[in-house]
Amino acid sequence: MPRNFFTLMRSSAPAATDVPAATRSGHGTPPPNWTAEAATGVHLDASLEAVRHEITEEVDTALQLRDVSAFYGDFQAIDRMSMPIPRNRVTALIGPSGCGKSTLLRCCNRMNDLIPGARMDGEIEFEGRNLLDPNIDAVEVRRRIGMVFQKPNPFPKSIYENVAFGARINGYSGDMDRLVEDALRRAALWDEVRDELDKSGLALSGGQQQRLCIARAIAVQPEIILMDEPASALDPVATLKIEDLMRELAEEYTIVVVTHNMQQAGRVSDYTAFLLAGEERVGRLVEFGPTQDIFTNPLDQRTEDYITGRYG
Ligand SMILES: Nc1ncnc2c1ncn2[C@@H]1O[C@H](COP(=O)(O)OP(=O)(O)OP(=O)(O)O)[C@@H](O)[C@H]1O
Ligand SMILES: [Mg+2]
Repeated sequence: MPRNFFTLMRSSAPAATDVPAATRSGHGTPPPNWTAEAATGVHLDASLEAVRHEITEEVDTALQLRDVSAFYGDFQAIDRMSMPIPRNRVTALIGPSGCGKSTLLRCCNRMNDLIPGARMDGEIEFEGRNLLDPNIDAVEVRRRIGMVFQKPNPFPKSIYENVAFGARINGYSGDMDRLVEDALRRAALWDEVRDELDKSGLALSGGQQQRLCIARAIAVQPEIILMDEPASALDPVATLKIEDLMRELAEEYTIVVVTHNMQQAGRVSDYTAFLLAGEERVGRLVEFGPTQDIFTNPLDQRTEDYITGRYG
């Protein structure tokens, strides 16, 4: 039986992580190899059943999820998910339809607040604060943690306005032309649209529209970009462009991507979380770790069954 506990080494951990969560929350004792030095790491609750891999690279966490649950009215969609989202890395969320991938993603930037009857529980630590705290400004959270959806959804405005709009309503007062060009360049769209910035965003191809939506997300200068199946409506060429873009964006941003495409998860992500819902339809985290480990040496049989296409 593998250890169901892992330490993610972290260069700057807040003081609250001085003691392992296992000890703080009273769920048992620290693992035998726990040392004061390891206390600079982020510790996950040892009582979790999710089987975990050791992370050997030194990496900071952009978000730390602890016991995140989400409900729609009386229905519990996800149950106590805990995992880190490593900074400047691509983390893939995989799992069969209905296991709570989109729900978890929407919790990460308080988009679920917008669904009537939806409620969240637990903690998502973002720069030392719990972003699920009702006193935190959800609008500000959504600016700093942007989102790209499955279906490209440009505004019925010009390409230029699509990118400038969010920045303007966020009070950006710098050189807007530069900001628009920079965002379009980062989204690998500039060369294709530089001479027709006045054209409607809706007149672009599907793949271009999706890159426009990525440019729009980038223009408000977020730290994290959440992508919910961003390429599933696109053809293979456009899909590869989005995948290349994700890898490039990870140099500056933290990316979390939901995908049903195992090859895509394998190609683009550094870390993978596998979610699964049981009979009662409540989604749980089964396994989280470096993508290579999840794909080549899954520690849970259910993960192996899923990635080898045996169900879902
Ligand atoms: N707005 C909503 N109101 C009520 N229940 C919802 C809502 N959105 C999702 N659910 C339920 O929550 C559970 C998780 O849904 P979610 O959309 O997060 O799954 P998913 O893993 O993203 O699925 P898919 O791969 O099909 O996109 C499902 O049982 C779903 O029916
Ligand atoms: Mg979904």
